[in-house]
This record gives sequence, C-alpha cells and structure tokens, in this order.
Amino acid sequence: MVGQLTAMITHELNQPLTATLCNTRAAELMLQNASRPVIDEIREILADIRRDNQRASESIHRMRMLLRQRQLELNSLDLGELVGEVLQITSKEAVRRGVRIKAEQTAKSLPIRGDRVHLQQVLLNLILNGMDAMANTPESKRCLLIRTSENDQEVEVAVSDAGQGIPLERLPRIFDPFATTKSDGLGLGLSIAKWIIEAHHGRIIAESNVNGGATFRFTLPNCAVLV
Ligand SMILES: Nc1ncnc2c1ncn2[C@@H]1O[C@H](COP(=O)(O)OP(=O)(O)OP(=O)(O)O)[C@@H](O)[C@H]1O
Ligand SMILES: [Mg+2]
Repeated sequence: MVGQLTAMITHELNQPLTATLCNTRAAELMLQNASRPVIDEIREILADIRRDNQRASESIHRMRMLLRQRQLELNSLDLGELVGEVLQITSKEAVRRGVRIKAEQTAKSLPIRGDRVHLQQVLLNLILNGMDAMANTPESKRCLLIRTSENDQEVEVAVSDAGQGIPLERLPRIFDPFATTKSDGLGLGLSIAKWIIEAHHGRIIAESNVNGGATFRFTLPNCAVLV
C-alpha cells in the first residue's frame, strides 16, 4: 500500500510542480521585457502558481495524515450504533444538500471488534461520496439508503445512492488512490477506506445499482461468538 501510494503521489505532485515551474519561467521572461504592459498577465500567472502550489500541498497534507495514522485501536463495538453516530454527524450536511437519509437495520445488534474513529471515517466518506454523486439528481429522488445486516460470519453495511452511478470502465480502479472525478477531490477517500476495512479483516466493494446510482458495501467479521 505505502509503495503504491508513494508512486501515485510522486506522479500526482509532478503535474502541479511542472506547471509552477513553467509559470515562473514565463513571469521571468516577461519581466525582462518590462516595457510591455505585463502586469495583468503576471497577475494571472501568480494566481496559477498559487493554485498549483495549493494542490500540491493538499496532496502532501492528506498523505501525511494517512501515513501517520496511529495504530488501530480495536474495541468491542456495535456497528449499528456506529452508523447512528455518523448519521448524527452528517444530518445537517444532508439537510443542506436536500438529501434524505434512510437507515435500515435488520439485526438488533451488530457486534464487531474495530477502531471506532477509523470506521467512522470510512462511513463518513461513503456518505459524503453518495451525497456528492446525487448533486444533479432531482431533489425528490435524492435519497441515501444505509442498510446494515448480518449472517453468522459477517456483518455488513451497504450505502446506496441514486446518483450519477459509476461508469463500468471506472469500477475496477475506483479504490485506487487519486482516482477522482471531482475538481475539489483528491481521490483518497476510498483508498483510505479500503486500507482501513482490510486492516479489520473485512472487504469493501462497489457496485452499480440496476435502477441507477451506486452501492458501496463493506463487511467485517461478526464477533457475536466472542460476546
Ligand atoms: N457513490 C458514488 N457514485 C458515483 N461515483 C463515485 C461514488 N463514490 C465515489 N465515486 C467516484 O470515485 C472517485 C473516488 O472517490 P474517493 O472518495 O476516493 O475520492 P473523492 O471523493 O474524489 O475525493 P476525497 O479524497 O475528497 O474523498 C470519486 O471522485 C468519484 O468519481
Ligand atoms: Mg470521497
């Protein structure tokens, strides 16, 4: 994971750094020709440099957060309760975006062993992604469904949206770092989620819904036998 991330970040940072260099050279050339009315052009160049620089620092910041993450702190948790906590955190944002969130829980309790903060992070990213995906969905259909279930071996959380969906060719790479389609996204949310779920000995997958939109589901070992 870390090797792959390092390769990706090097690739990702190269672009803004090259752009910054080109812009700096252009500004230097213009300053040599001081007789031309260059102030406006230089101002534009500086804005470009600032934006590219910001992009590079954001990537570095997110990578630091990811790589510096503390060790997993495993505790006995109820996954249903954890879903409730994240729904509370996201409820205001959902109202702001006109998204209805529906939670369906089939089992009374969903006992797992996990790191509360890390798992909250996973769910938060799935919910925010689902809401992002529905930005252009008519408000009457802007609904996010969060369904929890269990069998003897596993507990599962599925987050389904009615958004734009995932094109078939993007599906196999959707958990890769920096696989973003958003102008303000870094494309790290899902790669971090996958890392966290696999560190919990679970699995996470993405699917397209038959009637449009996407479903992300993750499973974790069912710890009912240990309780
Ligand atoms: N529910 C969804 N429906 C459609 N596409 C999705 C959905 N969730 C993720 N994607 C696609 O996968 C990409 C990667 O998602 P990911 O969460 O890793 O990064 P991001 O949301 O772009 O940025 P961030 O690092 O802020 O999370 C998104 O840019 C989007 O194209
Ligand atoms: Mg995201």
